[in-house]
Amino acid sequence: MRHLLDTTDLSVKEIDDLVALAMDIIENKQKYSHMCDGKKLATLFFEPSTRTRLSFEAAMMELGGNVLGFSEASSSSASKGESVSDTIKMVSCYADIIAMRHPLEGAPRVASCKSDVPVINAGDGGHSHPTQTLTDLLTVFREKGRFDNLTIGLCGDLKFGRTVHSLIKAMCRYSNIKFVLIAPKELSVPDYIKTNYLEEKGMEYIETDDMEAVMPQLDILYMTRIQRERFFSEDEYLKYKDAFILDTDKLQNAKADLTIMHPLPRVNEITTAVDDDPRAKYFVQALNGKFVRMALIITLLKWGGALS
Ligand code: CP
Repeated sequence: MRHLLDTTDLSVKEIDDLVALAMDIIENKQKYSHMCDGKKLATLFFEPSTRTRLSFEAAMMELGGNVLGFSEASSSSASKGESVSDTIKMVSCYADIIAMRHPLEGAPRVASCKSDVPVINAGDGGHSHPTQTLTDLLTVFREKGRFDNLTIGLCGDLKFGRTVHSLIKAMCRYSNIKFVLIAPKELSVPDYIKTNYLEEKGMEYIETDDMEAVMPQLDILYMTRIQRERFFSEDEYLKYKDAFILDTDKLQNAKADLTIMHPLPRVNEITTAVDDDPRAKYFVQALNGKFVRMALIITLLKWGGALS
């Protein structure tokens, strides 16, 4: 049995296979519509979500399976003091696979040690969000047709942004990738990501707070939200909340085939006028999340022997 706790739990070959399976699902939906008949997915969300939880649930439903779970800790026995370990032990009696989001970094890893079924990290604090990265990779593949020879701009809260951390870990394994890290100094990529991934893997990267200056270089612009919930005070959040706002003017010098991505939700870091630009792919990206989660559910159930 395998779990998915971090992007690097999957080899490059396994990611390629998941993307290929997701592509086949997109092209041949009917072929997969009874693949998970009789199987159950539990979604345990101790932290709010729209896309991740609902796309997991839609994914399992489109595979013919069923879903159960909770969308906030207050509606589970966690509110009575039950530990993550005990919760998972129970839920793994009721479900064939579990997707779990938790505000504490490492909580899904603790859960995986107690679970009798595969556990998927659906986001843990500021640490990691591997299924968002699979979503991002499928989007890159569909838009660019490749994972190498790309200049990727990552913009916004790069310190607490778990989607950014997971995406850097994944893209460091491809060739000729250049990262352009666009953030205020105080919200820059954590040192462990720089040391253990960017520097360890010899990646080319620059850090800047001038989005417009670097715009013409970018093949992909990955915008992120300044996350109010990760700051220790409201004043700190207010200082940075409008640090970067992508509007149509700032796109004037961008490449014609730029791909604009965002894990969503957005607040005001991309103006709604940008939505009409054909280079804006963040809503397609959210749809890709359902297809890649279908591929992941099938794959983990197969690896665990629950599907043939
Ligand atoms: N991208 C993402 O994780 O969105 P949700 O928080 O809505 O799940």
